[in-house]
Amino acid sequence: MSDAKIIDGKAFAEGLREKVAAAVLDLKESHNLTPGLAVVLVGEDPASQVYVRNKGKQTVDAGMNSYEHRLRDETTEAELLELIDELNGNSQVHGILVQLPLPKHISEEKVIGRISPNKDVDGFHVINTGKLNTGDSSAMVPCTPLGCLMMLKDQLGDLSGLRALVLGRSNIVGKPMASLLIKESCTVTVAHSRTRDLEEECRRADILIAAVGRPQMVKGSWVKPGATVIDVGINRIPAPEKGEGKTRLVGDVDFDETVKVAGAITPVPGGVGPMTIACLLRNTVVAACAQGGYDAPEGL
Ligand code: GUN
Repeated sequence: MSDAKIIDGKAFAEGLREKVAAAVLDLKESHNLTPGLAVVLVGEDPASQVYVRNKGKQTVDAGMNSYEHRLRDETTEAELLELIDELNGNSQVHGILVQLPLPKHISEEKVIGRISPNKDVDGFHVINTGKLNTGDSSAMVPCTPLGCLMMLKDQLGDLSGLRALVLGRSNIVGKPMASLLIKESCTVTVAHSRTRDLEEECRRADILIAAVGRPQMVKGSWVKPGATVIDVGINRIPAPEKGEGKTRLVGDVDFDETVKVAGAITPVPGGVGPMTIACLLRNTVVAACAQGGYDAPEGL
């Protein structure tokens, strides 16, 4: 059997960003509306700082306004909630994203619950998770699972009737991913650390989404021949072959083994990762349209 098709998330994300930029231009020309995204980072986590910088840059590159709020680690929950209230009331801001994880002394649940559901471009507010689960098309859909779904539909077309295994049950990826796949009429199983016969569950899946945060956990022998594998994991592991102290990024799937079995697979890096920010830009445009009372642009 020949090797799997490598799904190029970087190119896919570039295409989506171009569509977003075209929609932004149209909104400016037709309605004098420039979508704005506010990103809030609390603390100094290096990985989060990189993500926030990339989000800000890509927002501006797409022609939108970016508002960055970097708060010190000691920021109180009350101070953060006050900022969110301010952003909720600011008509220039159409999307609000609070980078997670937050420092331990701040309740993520409370903070997410304070964001206006209309501006919740992460899709984490219970109003939006509820809408997603009931099939309400006005739901803001979390960016990473939305990006995964776009790539799956591009690869497979109609997903109806396919068996999907979602490995991981997080609020950010696993649960919304399962909801999206149910909506596409897949037969969905959600597996996690307590799942019995995990390998067997994986081997039954036509679509395998790995989102557990365990480097190279899914082996080639766990994968059904011809299956489509979406690897959400981004794990840094030691890479002594590159020199002392060097590291490299790997997914939750053992790529070298799985590429020989699957029909299609996303690489790490260059798969799901670039799609997440592109979907955030997309959600910001959709949110801006909804707030302005305009139809969402076609094809986004
Ligand atoms: N941290 C890791 N992924 C995400 C995400 O999608 N949104 C937010 N707000 N924080 C994250």
